[in-house]
Amino acid sequence: MRFLTTFAACLCLGAFHVQAKSTAGDRVVVFVPKLDAASEYSQFLDSLGTRGFDVSFEGDRLYDHAIVLSPSSKKFGSGISVSDFLSFVDSGGNLIVAASHELSDIHRKLALQFGVTFEKRGSRVVDHTSHLAATVNQSDHSVVAAKQFAQVDAVLSKKVVGGKPVLFKGIAHAYDAANPLLVPLLTGARTTYSAASSAARSDVVLTGMSIGLVSAFQTRSNARVVFSGSADLFSNRLLGQKAAGNTQFVKEISQWAFQEKSVLRSTAHRHHFAATGETPEHYRVNNEIVYEVDLSVYYDDAWHPYVASDVQFEAIMLDPYIRATLNRTESNAAHATYHGDIKLPDRYGTFTFRVNYKRTGYSNVVVQDTVGIWPLRHDEYPRFLSAAYPYYVGSLTMVLGFLALSAAWLWNTEPKKAKSKTN
Ligand SMILES: *[C@@H]1O[C@H](CO)[C@@H](O)[C@H](O)[C@H]1NC(C)=O
Ligand SMILES: *[C@@H]1O[C@H](CO)[C@@H](O)[C@H](O)[C@H]1NC(C)=O
Repeated sequence: MRFLTTFAACLCLGAFHVQAKSTAGDRVVVFVPKLDAASEYSQFLDSLGTRGFDVSFEGDRLYDHAIVLSPSSKKFGSGISVSDFLSFVDSGGNLIVAASHELSDIHRKLALQFGVTFEKRGSRVVDHTSHLAATVNQSDHSVVAAKQFAQVDAVLSKKVVGGKPVLFKGIAHAYDAANPLLVPLLTGARTTYSAASSAARSDVVLTGMSIGLVSAFQTRSNARVVFSGSADLFSNRLLGQKAAGNTQFVKEISQWAFQEKSVLRSTAHRHHFAATGETPEHYRVNNEIVYEVDLSVYYDDAWHPYVASDVQFEAIMLDPYIRATLNRTESNAAHATYHGDIKLPDRYGTFTFRVNYKRTGYSNVVVQDTVGIWPLRHDEYPRFLSAAYPYYVGSLTMVLGFLALSAAWLWNTEPKKAKSKTN
C-alpha cells in the first residue's frame, strides 16, 4: 500500500504529539485535491490534531485512518486504487469518504463496495422547506438542514439527535436497508429529494427517507467506514454556522469512525465446574458449570465497564443447544463481568461455548472455546433409574411369582381322602 507517498506533505498534523485517544492507532492520512484545499477543512482537521492524531511513517499498514476529501478527483493519488482502499479497510484501517455533486467514478466504485450507491453525477440534494436559507444563502435550497438522525446511541449521542439540524450540501446515496453492517446515520426528511442538475433530465430517483446523506459501515473485522454525500459538511463554512449542529455531528461521526468510542472488547472469559471451581479438560453430560465473560467499552480516552442486559451465552454443536442471557454480577473500573449458571445438555460431542455479541454501532465481540462433553463412564450412571421402575417391578414380580409357584409345587400335597380301603 502506498498511502505514504501521497500524503506525506499534504497536512502537517505531525505537529501535534498528543497521546493517542483512538484504540486503533493515531496515524491519519488525508486526501485533498490540492495542498491549499486543506485550509478549507482546517477547523475539522485541526480538531483531529488536538484529539491526538498524528502522521507517522512506520509499520506494515502505514496509516490507521484515512480521510478522502477530494470528491471530484479522478484518482486518489499516485497509483492508489479502489482495491488498495479495500485491503486497507480489510486490514483494520478506518475510512471517512466525503462526496459532492461532482463525485468521480473512482469514489463511486469505492462506495459501491460497501453497499452505498451514490446518485448520478451532478444531482444534488434539495429541500425547499428545510434549509438554513437565512443563515447560509437566501437563494440556496441545496444547503439542506437535515435532522433525520438514526437512533444509534453508539454513534450519535443525545446531543446530536436532539440538537440542531446538520447543514448538508451534496449528493444523495441509496443505502441497502437490509445490510446489517450498514447504518444510515442521517437521511432525508419527507420533503427532501435528489434533483438532477439539468432541467432536461429532471428524473427524481431518490426521495424522502430513502435518501442517505451520511451512512456508516462497520466490517466484520471491526474496521469502520463513514460515507458522507457532502464534503462541505466538514468545511469551515458550514462548521462555522452557529445555527447548525455540524461541529458536534462531525466530531461524533469522526470519533466513531476513528475508534475513539463505542469500541467493545472482552478482556477475559472463563468456565468451570459450579461445585469445585476447577476447569477440566472436558465436561460430562448434564454437568453444572459457571460461564463468565468480562466486557469493556472504550470512550473518553479510557476503558469502562460495558453495561448491557442482552449478553448471551451459547453452547453450540451445529445447532445451539443452550442459549442463555447472562447476568451482570460485578463491575470494576475497567470491565463488567457477566455470569451464567449453566447446566450442560444431555448430549455428548464437541461443543463450542460462544458469546457472539454484535450490536449496531459497537464493535463485534466474539469469544469462543471448543469444549468436549463426554458421556458418563459405565460406573458413573446412577444405580437405579427412575424411568426403569416398571421393569424392576416387572422382574421382581416375576421372581416372586416363580417362588410362589415353586413353593406351591413343592409343598402341595393331594388332600388325604378319608380312609376307605377296601382290601
Ligand atoms: C448563493 O447561492 C447562489 C446560487 O447557488 C450563488 O450564485 C451565490 O454565489 C451564493 N451566495 C453566497 C454568498 O454564497
Ligand atoms: C440470571 O439471574 C436470574 C435471577 O436470579 C436467574 O433466574 C437466571 O437463571 C440467571 N441466568 C443465568 C444464565 O444464570
